[in-house]
Amino acid sequence: MKKIYIGMSADLLHPGHLNIINEARKILSDEGGGKIIIGLLTDKAIASYKRLPYMTFEQRKTVVKNVKGVDMVIAQETLDYVPNLLKIKPDYVLHGDDWKTGVQAQTRKKIIEVMKEWGGKVIDIPYTEGISSTKLNKILKEVGTTPEIRGKRLKRLLNSKDLTVIIEAHNGLSGLIAENAFVEENGKKIEFDGIWISSLTQSAAQGKPDIGYLDAPSRMATLNDIIDITTKPIIYDGDNGGPREHFVFTVKTLERLGVSAVIIEDKTGLKRNSLFGAEVEQYQDSPNNFALKIKAGKQAQLTDDFMIIARIESLILEKGIQDAINRAKTYLEAGADGIMIHSRKETFDEVKEFAKIYNALENKKPLVVVPSSYCNISEKELIENGISIVIYANHLLRAAYPAMLNCAKSILKNHRCKEASDEYCMKIKDILTLIPGGN
Ligand code: SPV
Ligand code: MG
Repeated sequence: MKKIYIGMSADLLHPGHLNIINEARKILSDEGGGKIIIGLLTDKAIASYKRLPYMTFEQRKTVVKNVKGVDMVIAQETLDYVPNLLKIKPDYVLHGDDWKTGVQAQTRKKIIEVMKEWGGKVIDIPYTEGISSTKLNKILKEVGTTPEIRGKRLKRLLNSKDLTVIIEAHNGLSGLIAENAFVEENGKKIEFDGIWISSLTQSAAQGKPDIGYLDAPSRMATLNDIIDITTKPIIYDGDNGGPREHFVFTVKTLERLGVSAVIIEDKTGLKRNSLFGAEVEQYQDSPNNFALKIKAGKQAQLTDDFMIIARIESLILEKGIQDAINRAKTYLEAGADGIMIHSRKETFDEVKEFAKIYNALENKKPLVVVPSSYCNISEKELIENGISIVIYANHLLRAAYPAMLNCAKSILKNHRCKEASDEYCMKIKDILTLIPGGN
């Protein structure tokens, strides 16, 4: 009885996958039978090198185990095949021959080496031309997502990644950047995991101060623009959530739209941006009152997926670490699904101190930070300090304003637009085709 091992993500099962499974069946029938074992990559394994798959592990498993010829589906917990290979000691590992070049070539080499121990072999199956997961993924992105699938994605990310990386968007165009921007690093595709709907940048984009002047329908309209053209999970800046009676409606609306989480801050009175700190009058709510708001929100939501994250302003208002910790305990008890600790210091020190005490709490939930002022902190250090979510809360808007201002000044200075076009602008053809469907 031979054993064939095939590793795959199988998010979008296509003829290329089926071809490999078919080849495995042929080998087994030539060799008198055996088993085809699929090593299905977990969300965590996939998230270590590219975007989280569309379907959950369980959904993908249901599909793959029903493919003709597949005898068994087991979890492959890492990109590295070796731990599973050592357990199973298959006679053959089959893979598309595209892995002979590029970043996967090293993986292949390592597998060949390990398999020598028990006389196993790697068989490269000629790549099925004209179809690829990358192409299908592009099509899938154009199709979009559903509120339910998007809504669940934040919790899936938190379970799959050490640090979930979120970037602000304030309109459709910045939403496209949050959705599509990526860099390649050692063969891994690095991109943002999700989108922050910031009160500051949304207000600024509409030429308004961040004082809660934009009403809920206006905030929702922008949110909807962003939802229209993205598939990534969304965290919504709910300011202080408004009166408890209003907050329950906000929760229901956000959940229905497929938003994954709302963050509400424990402040009361006229909304002021936290980064002003004690320079302006701003007041913290009483812990008990704010806890009641969290409880009301938790009762209003319909699914288990939606998260209400409590944002603590004690450090912003210089009330000290102990006050922040006491509040974190109260908010967790009230049912908060996460805690955001905000700081306007230029170093990470006070957040680090808070995180150390917080992470020792038994009932702790994911910890969120917004390093706008302590911007020199690296993602690596955040992970080392037990931070689960980092939000880059205002950077796309802060980058856009000076770029536009420079362009405007260039036109004024030169009394024509040639210099501005050459120096500051993308090509007309590029802006016309940036967004598909225009021609
Ligand atoms: C926002 O982005 O609107 C925030 C974060 O709430 S901060 O501006 O730092 O208060
Ligand atoms: Mg805000």
